[in-house]
Amino acid sequence: MMRVRKAIIPAAGYGTRFLPTTKATPKEMLNIVDKPAIQYIVEEAVAAGIEEILIITTRNKSSIENHFDATPELNDMLKSKGKDDLLALSKEAEDLAEVFFKRQKEMKGLGHAVLQARAFVGDEPFAILLGDDIVYHEKPCLKQLIEVFDKRQASVLGVQSVKKEDVSKYGIVDGKQIDDRTYTVEGMIEKPSIEEAPTTVAALGRYVLTPAIFDILETTQPGKGGEIQLTDGLIELAKKESMFAYDFEGIRYDTGDKLGYLKATVEYALRHEGVKASFKDYIKEISEKL
Ligand code: UTP
Repeated sequence: MMRVRKAIIPAAGYGTRFLPTTKATPKEMLNIVDKPAIQYIVEEAVAAGIEEILIITTRNKSSIENHFDATPELNDMLKSKGKDDLLALSKEAEDLAEVFFKRQKEMKGLGHAVLQARAFVGDEPFAILLGDDIVYHEKPCLKQLIEVFDKRQASVLGVQSVKKEDVSKYGIVDGKQIDDRTYTVEGMIEKPSIEEAPTTVAALGRYVLTPAIFDILETTQPGKGGEIQLTDGLIELAKKESMFAYDFEGIRYDTGDKLGYLKATVEYALRHEGVKASFKDYIKEISEKL
């Protein structure tokens, strides 16, 4: 049985929904309470048992690399001042995982970003976590998917049902429900209109795939938006191998979207030991004034 040991985090997109911030700051580095979004994602991968992580970045995104690098001067200063709690926070990001980086030279789409990981992944099943989707749950979303992979030995897409009017934002799955939370994937459609959508079951930024996806992506032609779409590759993969979708438990935030980002900020603050009590008071106070 093959174990899922490696994960990739595509984080090379332009992030146009967050302009002008994203002119010089990667959206993956936007702060949620006290950590950049991408650290939450790396933490999820580690908690799911992933051993090696490849982050796909691009020009202008070196702050992502810096975040996971050592900061010896800062750490020495914190040590000399006896600020051990702050030192621990700094070291946390450095020691979190075995993180590798590769740059996508042209932003030709998510499918193309995934293809950049071919040499890193080799001939093993692997996970994909999108750099702007954060999922909050006691049991990490990716862990839930890996358990399904272990049972089925086939690719698994992380899905949740979305509102009808939102289907045009996602890759929508066509398939049959086979148990409480699992579907077979018979087809998919990228960002359909409400009329075109076969279901409201949407792929939400978490995947466990077999390496057969790479041969497929090598020949996948640009699709919607002129980009090489991962969804188009998944449609071909589902024709060749069995594929499942799992309705994962957890609250998912699209931190690449303004409203999604604000919700993540508020809800993570309401869970954060250091600020939650006073933040809750503040939220109550301000909502009475609105
Ligand atoms: P999005 O659809 O969120 O696009 O990409 P985007 O460019 O990042 O953001 P907007 O829509 O312009 O605001 C989905 C995921 O695929 C990655 C993104 O970083 C994101 O995690 N991606 C997209 C790449 O890595 N490379 C690409 O060429 C395109």
